[in-house]
Amino acid sequence: ASLLWWQCFVKGLFFSFFNPQVVNGIEIYSMKIDSKVTSRFARNVITSQAVNRGNVHKEVFFDVELPKTAFITNFSMTIDGVTYPGYIKEKEAAKQEYEKAVSKGQTAGLVKASGRKTEKFTVSVNIAAASKVTFELTYEELLKRQFGKYEMFIKVKPKQLVKDFEIDISIFEPQGITELEAEGTFITNDLQNVIKKTFSDKKGHISFKPTLDQQRTCANCSQSLLDGDFTVKYDVKRTTPDNLQIVNGYFVHFFAPTNLPQLPKNIIFVIDISGSMSGREIEQTREALLKILDDIRDDDFFNFILFGSDVHTWKEKLIKATPENLDEARKFVRGIDTEGMTNLYGGIMKGIEILNAAHEEKFVPKRSASIIIMLTDGQPNVGISNTEDIRTHVKKAIEGKYPLYNLGFGYGVDYGFLEKMALENKGLARRIYPDSDSALQLQGFYDEVSNPMLMDVELHYPENEISGLTKNSFKHFYDGSEIVVAGRFADINQNSLTVDVKGEGANDVLSFTTQQDAEQTAKAFQEQEYIFGDYIERLWAYLTIEQLLEKRTAATGEEKENLTAEVLDLSLKYKFVTPLTSMVVTKPEDYDNQAGIADKTTEENVVITVFTLNLCITKQTPVICFTVDGDPHFIISVPQKEDAICFNINEKPGDVLSLINDPVTGITVNGELIGDKRANSDAKSQNTYFGKLGIANKYLNLKVTVTSEKITVQNGNEKTPFTWLDSVTLQQEGLTLIINKEKNLVLSMGGGASFVVVLHQVWKKHPLHQDFLGLYTLKSHKLSEQTHGLLGQFFHPIDFTILEIHPGSDPKKPDATMIIKNKELTVTRGWQKDYRKDPKHGIDIPCWFVHNNGAGLIDGVHTDYIVSSLF
Ligand SMILES: *[C@@H]1O[C@H](CO)[C@@H](O)[C@H](O)[C@H]1NC(C)=O
Ligand SMILES: *[C@@H]1O[C@H](CO)[C@@H](O)[C@H](O)[C@H]1NC(C)=O
Ligand SMILES: *[C@@H]1O[C@H](CO)[C@@H](O)[C@H](O)[C@H]1NC(C)=O
Repeated sequence: ASLLWWQCFVKGLFFSFFNPQVVNGIEIYSMKIDSKVTSRFARNVITSQAVNRGNVHKEVFFDVELPKTAFITNFSMTIDGVTYPGYIKEKEAAKQEYEKAVSKGQTAGLVKASGRKTEKFTVSVNIAAASKVTFELTYEELLKRQFGKYEMFIKVKPKQLVKDFEIDISIFEPQGITELEAEGTFITNDLQNVIKKTFSDKKGHISFKPTLDQQRTCANCSQSLLDGDFTVKYDVKRTTPDNLQIVNGYFVHFFAPTNLPQLPKNIIFVIDISGSMSGREIEQTREALLKILDDIRDDDFFNFILFGSDVHTWKEKLIKATPENLDEARKFVRGIDTEGMTNLYGGIMKGIEILNAAHEEKFVPKRSASIIIMLTDGQPNVGISNTEDIRTHVKKAIEGKYPLYNLGFGYGVDYGFLEKMALENKGLARRIYPDSDSALQLQGFYDEVSNPMLMDVELHYPENEISGLTKNSFKHFYDGSEIVVAGRFADINQNSLTVDVKGEGANDVLSFTTQQDAEQTAKAFQEQEYIFGDYIERLWAYLTIEQLLEKRTAATGEEKENLTAEVLDLSLKYKFVTPLTSMVVTKPEDYDNQAGIADKTTEENVVITVFTLNLCITKQTPVICFTVDGDPHFIISVPQKEDAICFNINEKPGDVLSLINDPVTGITVNGELIGDKRANSDAKSQNTYFGKLGIANKYLNLKVTVTSEKITVQNGNEKTPFTWLDSVTLQQEGLTLIINKEKNLVLSMGGGASFVVVLHQVWKKHPLHQDFLGLYTLKSHKLSEQTHGLLGQFFHPIDFTILEIHPGSDPKKPDATMIIKNKELTVTRGWQKDYRKDPKHGIDIPCWFVHNNGAGLIDGVHTDYIVSSLF
């Protein structure tokens, strides 16, 4: 053994020496980043291919950093030629529990874990020696315009030399491209000309394809210098202030007028000077404010409010930015020092009061843009410190008149509160990361909002023609940005649209009318060969989800539930991984193995490891593991073998299956299937569950109907209704019924067999899934020998023999030959869930899985068990 080990060792060394791109036995031999941008909507596909050059199995990592504003739309792995595709599923936490996860997500730890603009996506897979794996990740995002350019950035960090490395970006903008830049923070002079960039008219192309040698940090080094941000910026031609595009019943409207005079501003700076700001933070704040003072224009008005334990105002009123006043302000700013606690409430209310007074006294020009910028690094603890109360007061005082921008400095802030308060007041919140560039971050934010060109921008679309309109009114339009509105035509065949835009400019009210039809759009897209046809629809979905999520941040109660349901529905429909959804990777064509009796939760907490891959993908919080969803699954325990057999029945919603039928005792149990609320277009992943069970004893003239809502006991003609909210013990002749509120019911008939029906509750606003039932039998020996049905036939002693256990297509789940009823069946070792003890998560029961609807195991074929009605 030691000789063998030595050989491996030597071989490994030898190998690495000549292949510097092999790190820890793993060679990433190809990495491609392919981006296609159409009308600001970008779809990026990252493909990475690796091989295990070692002699033992190894873990391969796929680490990517994605822009926070992007949504993952697909992920797949291909291992030795087998592709494991990804499916979008609802995340377990999508119920109320999700709220907890979100508030946790806003704590410092997580924010630190992700970058300023990015968040990490990590997958690791164990692959055998000499095996190959391909990862393919797709994400989509709408590029935003800032400072006059659309910006897309790609985090590049292959961590080793990659033989075949390539970034390829194609841009198509029907308005025409006016400039295109590409740069990388890691680009050296030598690499500069490796970036190939061309653009003409509507198309732009960028390619970056460094050779192995060009990736080295030095001539013979094996370290990669590819580590940093690759940024692409471009802008489009604007002959008109707006641009409308119409495709397949959806439209998108881009609005960005140029060459308008700026509106004068009235800015209130509300600055936290509490003790926690002392040291670097207050220094950086002073530095940023001094720079900002240099940029304030002479027709602007401004003032400073400082809050520690007390509130200090620089001036009692807004002050015009004359050179003298600016000088005085600089002196004031230089003198700002920290003191005491955090009277945030006092500070912000004073700011609003001064701004309100200025407007009431008509002290500031009618056509001017008022803005409140608040900076804090802590949590309110003086004055009113209850954040809900502060929000209520602030909202009432501002009344939608000015946007409130909240800047949260560092990790001690209650960012959730700042964000909610800003969003409720037409503004937004930003984090200022404590670092050497904090002052620059502050200034950068000011630059974004320092050039208002229009106020109260309203984009009007004919109301009766449009549904699903995204946000269409904006407090301010800032120079260098762009307003994007998307919508859906009520009539999918409509192909033209007229839009009116109104906004208050510095001198007068501006209004524009634009008309566009689908033909013109089609013409503008003529030369476009690579677009994804549904991009406008996806852009609409992206924008809608983004805005609903934002709205959801500040919402409560039923409104929040409604928003959650809406976002979940859209995320599932358009396959976006949002905070409410996950991506699940399963083995192809193996739905069978995911399934037990009529039982399993639809939530993601029913996670079984279907195969050996050590896979968990994370975006913020763990998102993927293997999960089950599916059809009624049957578990037959075989006590004498201390083992179990399981199978699935795949039939359609509405069908009634005969589960138990005993002519001797007169007991029958039938189950009716239900599907998801919305039929799944992918028939294979069509889930069915038992939605209704009918348990009867014809000799006792008893019928019990159980649905996920109610339980009805019918004794002759007399009906007694119960609901799952009842806790009941009912004893009458021949029947004992115990309802354990919202959990399960136990039913015994004629002193014989008993059944347990388990209620599985799904979140009630779930767009897809509905509540369903599971059935378990107890004391089945009280039924006669003649009992039949999908379950009933197994109440008689059953025996089987397992032969020839051999590796199956999934290494963790061996196949075997089962001899049963004088037949040979190929079966697979798997698990099913038993939910009797733990209705939420279930307990894994190992079993031999019989494929194809239990073919060969059950008597006859499964369709023989479809009956015409519940009784
Ligand atoms: C996801 O990617 C895989 C692999 O490229 C592909 O086969 C599949 O069709 C994609 N799914 C969707 C929904 O685009
Ligand atoms: C790189 O390695 C080769 C082979 O070992 C050697 O001949 C060459 O001088 C080295 N170059 C540098 C710049 O170190
Ligand atoms: C939530 O949705 C339900 C059903 O669509 C509706 O009746 C209700 O008014 C909505 N509630 C709120 C607060 O939006």
